[in-house]
Amino acid sequence: MTATLELEERTEPSAKTTPSAKTEPDDVRKRPVPAGVDRVVLTGFMGSGKTTVGRALAERLGWQFLDLDTEIERRDGRSVPQVFAESGEAHFRHLETSALAGLLGQRRVVLALGGGAPEELGNRLLLEQTPRTAVVYLAAPLETLIARCERDDARTGAAGRPLLAEAGQRFAVRRHLYERIAAHHVETSACDVEQVADAILESLQQSRGRTLRPAG
Ligand code: S3P
Repeated sequence: MTATLELEERTEPSAKTTPSAKTEPDDVRKRPVPAGVDRVVLTGFMGSGKTTVGRALAERLGWQFLDLDTEIERRDGRSVPQVFAESGEAHFRHLETSALAGLLGQRRVVLALGGGAPEELGNRLLLEQTPRTAVVYLAAPLETLIARCERDDARTGAAGRPLLAEAGQRFAVRRHLYERIAAHHVETSACDVEQVADAILESLQQSRGRTLRPAG
């Protein structure tokens, strides 16, 4: 299921979302929790907005927001860039799979994956085999994704994504995996955060009880 929004990216809140946010009580903007779904997992490349959108979506649903990178850092006691620098990518992927298995045990959560999680077959199988789990792919063109990551780095003053230098090769491998593991696809490049959250909820409502595509 693909939901594409046509509005331009905004630097200011949209006319569509701002007035209702100001004039209507919070619960009017909340949508019913999708039937048959206990967790929503956001996947997509670095810079696709998984964390930002995940927070907004969790708030709409009244669910908890979980971030896989944050969980890895909590368990390991080091930052993601530190794990990459000191222990290498293979070790990071090992930590990532353990953290994912742990977090998938929780219900009523929105979970943002790291951009590389679907590269591992074990992670794809975990997602496929966890019942009542809706996987959503947040898509955008590579140039947009890189520009967003560079903006993040400029804002924080740190290079927060060790694999950004390999973005081209990684994206080529991963885009098909994102498409394959996710039953819901949302094109994000022309949308603000609330519009992406709207599109996700709409897609979930339209496919009640739909199951994941096979992993592979
Ligand atoms: C990675 C993406 C990062 C983080 C790590 C590896 C990747 O997460 O998990 O730096 O392999 O693409 P974000 O997608 O949240 O940036």
